[in-house]
Amino acid sequence: MNLDKYYITTPIYYVNDNPHIGHAYTTLIADVYARYFRKRYGSSSVFFLTGTDEHGAKVEKAAKEKGIDVKSFVDKVSQEYQNVWKKLNISYDNFIRTTDELHEKNTKDLLQKLFDKGLIYKGVYKGIYCLGCEKFLTQEEITENKCLMHPNTILREQEEENYFFRISSFVGKLEKLIKNNSYLVLPEGRKKEILSRIQGGINDISISRKGIEWGIPLPWDKGHTVYVWIDALLNYLTATKIFNKEDFWPPTIQFMAKDILWFHAVIWGALLLGLELNLPKEIFAHGFFTLDGQKMSKSTGNIIDPNDLINTFGVDGTRYLLLSAFAFGADGDISYKKFKEKYNADLANGIGNLVSRIAKLCEKVENLEIGEKISKNTARSRKIDECMDNFRPDSVLEIVWTEISKLDQQINSATLWEKTPEELSSLLPIYIEKILEFAKDLEFIIPDTSNKIRRTFCVDGKIKKLEPLFIRIQ
Ligand code: MSP
Repeated sequence: MNLDKYYITTPIYYVNDNPHIGHAYTTLIADVYARYFRKRYGSSSVFFLTGTDEHGAKVEKAAKEKGIDVKSFVDKVSQEYQNVWKKLNISYDNFIRTTDELHEKNTKDLLQKLFDKGLIYKGVYKGIYCLGCEKFLTQEEITENKCLMHPNTILREQEEENYFFRISSFVGKLEKLIKNNSYLVLPEGRKKEILSRIQGGINDISISRKGIEWGIPLPWDKGHTVYVWIDALLNYLTATKIFNKEDFWPPTIQFMAKDILWFHAVIWGALLLGLELNLPKEIFAHGFFTLDGQKMSKSTGNIIDPNDLINTFGVDGTRYLLLSAFAFGADGDISYKKFKEKYNADLANGIGNLVSRIAKLCEKVENLEIGEKISKNTARSRKIDECMDNFRPDSVLEIVWTEISKLDQQINSATLWEKTPEELSSLLPIYIEKILEFAKDLEFIIPDTSNKIRRTFCVDGKIKKLEPLFIRIQ
């Protein structure tokens, strides 16, 4: 394990539709970790990958419904993802697309390797297929003839000739590695679920599809294309080859939600064992959030486009609201109303008001000595490191906002606005120092705001009042 290399991934998202805030949430978490690791270990130690999953029947069907040829359709939606990540200030190092020629070539090579090792064989699969999940369902995943995850998708019984991967050869080893945390599946509760499902028995998994044209042809049998999930999982590996990042192997943390943990913990793990490669160090599956108590879905129309959130609350407003909405790892509910209240309370009236009050008071004073001095509160940064190590970035915000309101109260009781410029010149640096500490604590979460605060107070000349960091929303 290369300890000075940190490889962080998000799932690669399907391009059957535009990004929504579910995708934004995971990507934002990964971005916060990438920024945090860069700050802690240096920029060259981090490789942050995201991308889009562009093959398979679901994507092909979406393109046909729109009457667009599939390639133009996937180009367009993939671009939507890249645009919104740029807007949200996502600092990914590379963006992988599974329709990239190099990904296709590397995927073929990897599968050929497994085939040559005798780990892939031909068989017949019969089962209930859900197009929403792009997989055959188990009995537990079906209720009243409907998929638990995609109740509006019509389930079909499918029987077809497929190639299978001998996952059964690796289950014992995988179980051991997960149990002894060499292959760390988190949170603990989800790890237990995975282990009990493994103990229930696993069938070999089909890795090809016969009737699906929109995919990568198997190198040894052109009549089959690679099953979209196998194609997608291999992206984490092909990316290291495509982007010349092989020395970052294996991934340090792979983020996703609980819906796709099985594919990662078990199928991805087994593929890597088959390829005789090191397994990821940690896989973290966070919860799912609902919107106003309802599952987000196209058919009910309750999907939030991250662009809308950014237009309303700004980039850092959106980053703050998504991250602080609920405990990372757990399921949660979000609502526009709660977002608005929190935005006004914590951002406009909270940190925004605090910073502008102090900056305004600085205008009364000539020659305030602040310079480039940005210290950090070591006791607090230790607590922040602990929260990050324990996968609770939401708690980082709680810690900092508790301090922000304490400082607000101190300023109120100090009645600074009644002080003379002389008194202010000795009092203000104390408050500015604290605000700069907040900026430092928050730089990997709300980077623009953190920079604006620095630029306001760390100036050569006179400190001037600044444009509001967060404008109150009515
Ligand atoms: N293409 C596959 C992943 C392949 S990775 C090798 C896929 N794509 S997806 O577009 O459906 O994205 C699923 C992921 O989006 C979830 O695991 C999670 O990261 C994110 N989320 C989608 N909806 C979400 C919520 N409602 N709540 C939280 N995260 C959500 O699966």
